[in-house]
Amino acid sequence: MTQTHHREAWSSRLGVIMAVAGSAVGLGNFLRFPGLAAQYGSGAFMIAYFISLLLIGFPICWVEWTLGRYGGQKGFHSSPGIFSVLLRHPAGKYIGVLGVIIPVIIYTYYVYIEAWCLGYAFYFFTGKLSLGSDVAAYSEFWSNFVGANRDGMTLEGGQNQVVIFLAIVFSLNFYLIYRGLSKGIELFCKYAMPVLVILAFITLARVLTLGTPDASKPDQNLLNGLGFMWNPGDVSKQLSNPQLWLAAAGQIFFSLSVGFGVIITYASYLTNRDDVVLSGISASSTNEFCEVALGGMITVPAAFVFLGSAGIVGQGTFGLGFNVLPLVFSKLPYPWFFGGIFFFLLFLAAVTSSLSMLQPGIAFLEEGLGLKRRQSVTLLGMITAIGCLFVVYNSKDLKALDTLDFWVGTFLIFILATILIILFGWGIGVEKGWTEAHKGAEIRIPSFFKPIIKYVSPLYLLIIFSLFILFNVFGWDPSTGAFQPSSYISDLVGETPNAAARLSVLFIVIVAAFFMVLIGTAGKRWDNAKNGANLPDNQDSETES
Ligand code: ALA
Repeated sequence: MTQTHHREAWSSRLGVIMAVAGSAVGLGNFLRFPGLAAQYGSGAFMIAYFISLLLIGFPICWVEWTLGRYGGQKGFHSSPGIFSVLLRHPAGKYIGVLGVIIPVIIYTYYVYIEAWCLGYAFYFFTGKLSLGSDVAAYSEFWSNFVGANRDGMTLEGGQNQVVIFLAIVFSLNFYLIYRGLSKGIELFCKYAMPVLVILAFITLARVLTLGTPDASKPDQNLLNGLGFMWNPGDVSKQLSNPQLWLAAAGQIFFSLSVGFGVIITYASYLTNRDDVVLSGISASSTNEFCEVALGGMITVPAAFVFLGSAGIVGQGTFGLGFNVLPLVFSKLPYPWFFGGIFFFLLFLAAVTSSLSMLQPGIAFLEEGLGLKRRQSVTLLGMITAIGCLFVVYNSKDLKALDTLDFWVGTFLIFILATILIILFGWGIGVEKGWTEAHKGAEIRIPSFFKPIIKYVSPLYLLIIFSLFILFNVFGWDPSTGAFQPSSYISDLVGETPNAAARLSVLFIVIVAAFFMVLIGTAGKRWDNAKNGANLPDNQDSETES
């Protein structure tokens, strides 16, 4: 693999694929996906899911890889820089702010959930998560652990274990990011990815040999568990539910880490001699394998054989992951082992994802402001620590986490993904973009993706986005035609607004404004550089040591 003119580069092709796959494989695969599939009637959900994968998942992945590499060839590795060359307009770099604030803000709550996973692994391995056979006990444990009962709870004395785990995972992320692209991210993903897949296989083998654990409940057997996860129900009725399509499209984005600003940053460290077509599809396929074949086979079938469908429906993602599953593991022989390895694999999957959310911010601070690695890591560390403390403090009903996830982890991702695909298909032009994508490519993208990228994906996104606004924001009820604003709106402007939700949106605005100001400064630097003045050489490659 050739180096770009900056010193940061991936050390091998496998390394970059592992890093992108690592970014993609995360909590979304093992928690969010099974939760959504179970909620929306799995078989039908999978139809919408695979259609979304084909129409927006794969296309936008290739688009991000291609545009990122293109920006990298022009000397930029941050989203504002890449957008400045793509749009060739002074406003371009400001649009690129999305590719910085999305990963930075998602990091602030994602790392909190990562800390829960490490905590749960630790508690299982040390035998502390053996709380009997009542799900209420696990639910209470979790609420106390994450502080869901009242704001500030996790920062009170005696109740602060989660903060300790958070400090550990936070430091680990920043240590790895400080080590740099190849010695930090790439090296960690190269080991963590195979390990987590092995742990997932061990857990899966255990789940697939569960049989019928309770002879008095013969229906609660493994086959029915798999059926509950995979059998289509009343498909035509379920597919007419717009929420299902929204959930499926949102899951594709979240899971593949597209529209995050991550892939364009990662791909910017490649050159025109490096393949992006095969690498892109390899990383996406790895993610799909982990999501569908591993994530989809573990959580829900295991919960079904012990608790039946009643124990799953209505649990939500966190309920399923942190209340139901610990109970399920406690019913197995060696609960400490299976519970421990499952939550440890979640933790590893989460780290490889959260790491990727830091690199876009680091890349921007370095190339935009000329900061050295140590300085950029410190500044980003401070920004994300403030955000993270905000999420941890406003823990009642996980309001801050949920609000940020809705407005940034869903809404803004849709926006960025849409901008990227329109830019590729219409701004640059699909033919030119196609040629760009195939530089150094080892396989060709099937040509039917050309009309998909140009027409179908933007249209599909537009429809999904309109449905999202109609149903999830304005709360339209098609049966009555009435609008009942969703909690995400009423929390902000309703009669009884929620302070944490309002502050969360204010936090998003402040972070965006802060980075906009920095982008203005960066723009001046880049203009000066274009006019002949050299940029200071501050693109530290790896650690400064
Ligand atoms: N793609 C990452 C996940 O699935 C963010 O968790």
